[in-house]
Amino acid sequence: MNRPVLAANWKMNNGPTTAREFMQSFLDQYPRQNDRTILIFPPALSFSVVAAAIGERRDILLGVQDVHWEDQGAFTGQLSVPMARDAGARVVLVGHSERRHVFGETDDDVALKCAAVERGGLTPLLCVGERLDERDAGNASGVVVSQLRAGLSRMTQLATREVMVAYEPVWAIGTGRNATPEDASAMHSVIRNELASLCGDRARVTPILYGGSVNSGNARSLLGAPEVDGLLVGGASLDPGSWLAIVRG
Ligand code: 13P
Repeated sequence: MNRPVLAANWKMNNGPTTAREFMQSFLDQYPRQNDRTILIFPPALSFSVVAAAIGERRDILLGVQDVHWEDQGAFTGQLSVPMARDAGARVVLVGHSERRHVFGETDDDVALKCAAVERGGLTPLLCVGERLDERDAGNASGVVVSQLRAGLSRMTQLATREVMVAYEPVWAIGTGRNATPEDASAMHSVIRNELASLCGDRARVTPILYGGSVNSGNARSLLGAPEVDGLLVGGASLDPGSWLAIVRG
């Protein structure tokens, strides 16, 4: 397995005051570990607080939850890749299920964003995942492969640049119903095979994370499943105790 990546997506939670308290508590109890990478996606308003708390620690990376594909301009409410880089972000979540299904983001939007992230020298963490009706119809792999292909379609340096992928089945997000380790493994294999056809040897070292109702009770078995290189955690990353249990495990 690649070095595990344990990622916290705080979504629209943890404003600056809570984020500061969280980081104080987390960092006090989590000394540097070189055998795993911790990745935190705070909401934009809390980004600088979290960056200041992390300081020089290289085992903890920061990311933003979304970007616009343009570098600057009249796009009220949006963040750009150069801004994210300037603030200290290394990774950008692209195509998260909530962006797609709550805010109507299309595959082409996702592709434009991945290309912008590549152009700006950051790493995209491309999220893919099927809805329950698509799984029930036997089309889960088809949906995931098509989202993956579309999302990466505008990137030009796939063979050499770092990309991360998260498999987050929509039916598992925030529902308390996680995919089984076997289901996750099977879909991660599909993703890795597809990546091999898109970016060659790099596919072997591309981190593929699982997300969807991960908690301190199921994290270990999901992370132990073949082809699962990391976890992308929503709800259970908001409490320093459960997050600590996940990253220590
Ligand atoms: P939950 O862990 O709350 O199910 O959220 C998963 C997710 O969407 C992470 O990006």
